[in-house]
Amino acid sequence: MSTIVTVHSFRGGTGKSNTTANIAALMAAQGKRVGVVDTDIQSPGIHILFGLAGDQIQVSLNDYLWHGRPIKESAVEVTPAGASGAVFLVPASTKPGEITRALREGYDAKRLTQGFRDLIDSLDLDVLLIDTHPGLNEETLLSLIIAHLVLVVMRPDKQDYEGTGIAIKVARGLNVPNLLLVVNKSPQILDPQALKHRVQEIYDCEVAAVLPHSDDMMNLASGGIFAINFPDHPVTNQYQKIAGRIASL
Ligand SMILES: Nc1ncnc2c1ncn2[C@@H]1O[C@H](COP(=O)(O)OP(=O)(O)OP(=O)(O)O)[C@@H](O)[C@H]1O
Ligand SMILES: [Mg+2]
Repeated sequence: MSTIVTVHSFRGGTGKSNTTANIAALMAAQGKRVGVVDTDIQSPGIHILFGLAGDQIQVSLNDYLWHGRPIKESAVEVTPAGASGAVFLVPASTKPGEITRALREGYDAKRLTQGFRDLIDSLDLDVLLIDTHPGLNEETLLSLIIAHLVLVVMRPDKQDYEGTGIAIKVARGLNVPNLLLVVNKSPQILDPQALKHRVQEIYDCEVAAVLPHSDDMMNLASGGIFAINFPDHPVTNQYQKIAGRIASL
């Protein structure tokens, strides 16, 4: 059976897209067939991490949702070199007209969840990772409902603490079967173990990993998949932990 993982945060910029892309690459390195869907229709971006510019996107999730094309036609293979598995990305359109149309018109909600299932079947996926827009919107709620696991990514920041509480409440209200927290951009001066225990206590929820704030990540500046560029880095070790946790579900 394939596993659907939704990566979410209430606030923006917590590291969802990087977490999603890195987990995808690491799971593909372990031989898994991984799908990644960019449901951040309002402000898509994960394609950049896989080396695709917006104007290189030929077919997108928007073509499936609004133009009736089979979803598999929008999947681009972005498997990292040397991986024994595979990564397929369904990007969202970066065309301004497509983005405003999405916001204006909405779509048949069932179509998105059907699309996830079609993609899993047609590409024979082991794992489907769903990257989301921050906050709560229709795509996010649908992506939470269908998930076997929701990863909530947060920074140790007061605004994130409150936002994470809201995201967790919604996920629990939707009876998501597995919920894990990822604490990202932890300042080097904080003790990761102490932070992990504190966050676990606040939300009564397992913390899968605490990732340090990294200048190497800032320097890479979304110019690629971090784990491939820095295979032995402490941040990559934490991404590995998350990938291992997903594999153990
Ligand atoms: N551990 C880290 N240390 C330093 N910078 C990081 C770290 N994780 C992510 N970043 C940087 O933070 C920025 C936001 O990351 P990312 O795009 O993954 O977040 P996001 O949650 O997907 O954002 P959005 O809500 O806009 O979709 C990027 O510039 C990324 O390089
Ligand atoms: Mg993002």
